[in-house]
Amino acid sequence: MLETAYATQTGDPRDSIIVALDCPEHDALDIAEKLKGKATWLKVGMTLFYKTGPEIIKHFHEQGFKIFLDLKLFDIPHQVQGAAASAAATGADLLSIHALGGSEMLEAAAEGIASLEQCTPTQTVAITILTSFDEETLKAVGVAKPMLSEVEDLARLAMTHKANGLVCSPQEVAGLRHLLGTAPRIVCPGVRPTGAGAQDQSRIATPKDALLAGASQLVIGRPITKAEDPVAAFEACLKEVEEVLAEN
Ligand code: C5P
Repeated sequence: MLETAYATQTGDPRDSIIVALDCPEHDALDIAEKLKGKATWLKVGMTLFYKTGPEIIKHFHEQGFKIFLDLKLFDIPHQVQGAAASAAATGADLLSIHALGGSEMLEAAAEGIASLEQCTPTQTVAITILTSFDEETLKAVGVAKPMLSEVEDLARLAMTHKANGLVCSPQEVAGLRHLLGTAPRIVCPGVRPTGAGAQDQSRIATPKDALLAGASQLVIGRPITKAEDPVAAFEACLKEVEEVLAEN
């Protein structure tokens, strides 16, 4: 069985796809309405959250969605502790933080969330290296190590300092599974169905390849939200996921 089923522990293939609503509020609400009952997870990122605030999460929860609040926290530990507590208070199911923030910051995020005493605590995923980066971008910001080794070091750091899971590109997920086993939730953006454009993403793969490499969940944005028919685009991705899960 694939790690996907293990990591999400739901057995529902729809939980393997997180639809990233990086669009104006009106479009996001419209797409969510169309995906109601079809998709189970939505991603609310900075574009939408800075516009709407926590209300949008409440609204999507009422529609039955689970929410990945992708705010990519990265600041001094004190600030991140407070930010993580505020973000968790929205009821978000999943929250992203940057592994590059270091051990103290990662633990501060966990403490901030723990201070809330939620029935189901918000889970964190630590971003390793953004999927828009390539080796050249990495060197330009002063990281001399190869991509995979930097991603592995950040993943190890995050998992030993209270992150609940990781975000990495589909191209590194097999390496992380080898390193960390089947337990951690590993979320992969940079997913492009065959024939879809890469846009600003660099380290991409198809849904099938990302799942076979060990991703727990796939974040898919523009291939769905910018499609002429977002529901049909979502269903095509889901069909690919269902086929992979049925065969493995
Ligand atoms: O539209 P697209 O499918 O490229 O959207 C990918 C989403 O995943 C974006 O919302 C982006 O913020 C997010 N993301 C990413 N790379 C990471 C972490 C999150 O692309 N490392």
